[in-house]
Amino acid sequence: GEMNMKPINVKPSKHDLETGRDPTRVKVFDTTLRDGEQSPGCSMTSDEKMQVAKQLARMGVDVIEAGFPIASNDDFLAVKQIADVVGNYENPPIICGLARATEGDIRRCADAVKGARFPRIHTFIATSDIHMEHKLRKSREEVLKITKQMVTLAKSLVDDVEFSAEDALRSDRAFLAQVFSVAIKAGATTINVPDTVGFTTPTEFKETIEYLRKHTEGIEDVTISVHGHDDLGMAVANFLGAIEGGARQVEVTVNGIGERAGNAAMEEVVMALHVRKSYYNPMFGRPADSNDALTNIVLKEIHRSSRLVTSLTGMMVQPNKAIVGANAFAHESGIHQDGMLKNKLTYEIIDASTIGLDNSDGIVLGKHSGRAAFKARLADLGIVLNEDETNKAFIRFKDLADKKKEITNADLESIVNDEAQDL
Ligand code: KIV
Ligand code: ZN
Repeated sequence: GEMNMKPINVKPSKHDLETGRDPTRVKVFDTTLRDGEQSPGCSMTSDEKMQVAKQLARMGVDVIEAGFPIASNDDFLAVKQIADVVGNYENPPIICGLARATEGDIRRCADAVKGARFPRIHTFIATSDIHMEHKLRKSREEVLKITKQMVTLAKSLVDDVEFSAEDALRSDRAFLAQVFSVAIKAGATTINVPDTVGFTTPTEFKETIEYLRKHTEGIEDVTISVHGHDDLGMAVANFLGAIEGGARQVEVTVNGIGERAGNAAMEEVVMALHVRKSYYNPMFGRPADSNDALTNIVLKEIHRSSRLVTSLTGMMVQPNKAIVGANAFAHESGIHQDGMLKNKLTYEIIDASTIGLDNSDGIVLGKHSGRAAFKARLADLGIVLNEDETNKAFIRFKDLADKKKEITNADLESIVNDEAQDL
């Protein structure tokens, strides 16, 4: 029962101490540059990855998973450059690389991340019977042995080691707890529980974390992390269940890009914790009315980050997507508009300016506005266009400005989206 559930680790890590982070908050581990880049058609050059990494740092993510260094020379170089530059900012994020549980992967990963002030190796091996039998062709005993050896190797190269049990949510729970116990004993400081195939449910994820907190040796000394895919459209809900169970790191991507149906979306997890703070606060041992943030994310950077990732990957955000969709703050029906005019709280749970979607420069774009104001606003929105695209978008902007008094950021977004769809 509840009695033997181990406490959630709130001891500050070296990264927390040296960058002034509150150890009780949920850590945001961004994998846009690794799992996100694995979405078909989303590959980025190393320059583009650097732009994203800089923006992620500005947004306050705790960990950037910059890539999979063994995958290619380009991936190695991208991770290395990010480690060397962004990993040495003032109060930098942890820079992490992915490695299978093999010596070659782990050494290559260490070489890529070691220039960062806070380098992390993230190594993984599958633990479900179906993966062990058909993919790895290894027994449980062999997987336990490899886990011990490879986490030990990673730990000899960097202090901060994360271990993932791939396909954890389809693994035998007792075996899963056994693998994590071995990984922790060998030096892992974060254990990650991935829902690799997007199969779990919110309550099941919560119960899995609670089970692990009862049966994993040393779990009270490490961070429990979750990773998940959106095959059933439940990735974000699953994470919120896992947080209730005691998970304190979330592996997310901007706009939810990633393998197949994507990963859990950063902006949705972060905004759910923000908007429903008083619901979550007690689970963090805080009074319900505490105003202290539950993550380190600078909310005002959310919209810009979303736009940047859209521009660089070409992966469009659906207009009705939560938080960052073009229509997320649009009110169309008469009844809703009437309510909004009387009091915004009638139909709005988030003020658009919270995520940085506002005209904070005081410039109102209309038919009298010129190219400079137009380009400046695009840059503010994190929209990157080439010369030709800018010219075309500017013509559309002028057309629309002839029909409409004020061109909002949402209008600009749809102008640019239309443009991209026409290409
Ligand atoms: O989905 C998955 O299991 C992964 C692991 C490498 C963490 O991406
Ligand atoms: Zn994944």
